[in-house]
Amino acid sequence: MARPPRIPESEITPERLYLGRRDFLALGAGGAVGAAALTSAIARAATPAGTPLSAVKKQNFAGDEKPNTLDEITHYNNFYELGTDKEDPAVHAGSLKPRPWQIAVEGEIKKPRIFDIDELMKLFPLEERIYRMRCVEAWSMVIPWLGFPLGDFLRRLEPTSKAKYVAFTTLFDPAQLPGQQRAVLQWPYVEGLRIDEATHPLAMLAVGLYGQTLLGQNGAPIRLVAPWKYGFKGIKSIVKIRLVADQPPTSWNLSAPHEYGFYANVNPAVDHPRWSQAKERRIGEFGRRKTLPFNGYADQVASLYSGLDLAKNF
Ligand code: MTE
Repeated sequence: MARPPRIPESEITPERLYLGRRDFLALGAGGAVGAAALTSAIARAATPAGTPLSAVKKQNFAGDEKPNTLDEITHYNNFYELGTDKEDPAVHAGSLKPRPWQIAVEGEIKKPRIFDIDELMKLFPLEERIYRMRCVEAWSMVIPWLGFPLGDFLRRLEPTSKAKYVAFTTLFDPAQLPGQQRAVLQWPYVEGLRIDEATHPLAMLAVGLYGQTLLGQNGAPIRLVAPWKYGFKGIKSIVKIRLVADQPPTSWNLSAPHEYGFYANVNPAVDHPRWSQAKERRIGEFGRRKTLPFNGYADQVASLYSGLDLAKNF
């Protein structure tokens, strides 16, 4: 996504990265698998387990589409604070300590306060929701998230009438998130939603996936999931949620305003300036499939944007 590389990730990432490096290595270049490559294959095989979580309700929002594997979901990531290659976050996630963790809620709400993550998880029953997720780089996955509706959380905060937007902030701690030692983006990562988007029933705060707590690479211990938007809206490892009157700054828009807008609704009709958004590559599949408006969630969310020029408000 960053300026370099100029070719979208979807074009340049060889199949081996997401089909499983070990399968590729097993094929080997003429069978000659080096010791370093073997070590990497073994390291990759061990996906650390999170803590098991149970859901009170399970809902599938991805039709008959098969969820990606845990291995794919945890080894092909964007989390620039843990490195800019897709495999970096899994390798470096150990430096991120998701407990103890606090989330400050502030701004236009009745009573600003700080929640401990474990306290928060007790307040809201966890649901499993299987969502299609579409990255702006034209790849996609299907992920069984565990979390609760962001709207339930926001209503509990009792927003004032001035609250028109929700601003989210990722942890800033270069020791835990070593990518913050380099100015790839302005740190900390920030994101935002309009309040009606944030309280839409599809928007959720996720604390887990595949029946266990999130691993560092997926944004432990808590991250945003808005399945009708490009993946970069899904800010990870949140420490602050602020309700505000004005549209808040967002990281990728600050970095490249002509390429990444505030709304970031999945829209196959509006290309990224450097690549098409008409199709996407589902991780684990060959070929490409058509991208759907609002990532297939138009029936649920399109009314939020009636009257808005989606080419201008990209
Ligand atoms: N959040 C933070 N703090 N830093 C990031 O670099 N990358 C975003 C988003 N959230 C990012 C982030 C992008 S570009 C995508 S596509 C999704 O996380 C990827 O989420 P996943 O790795 O869990 O699939």
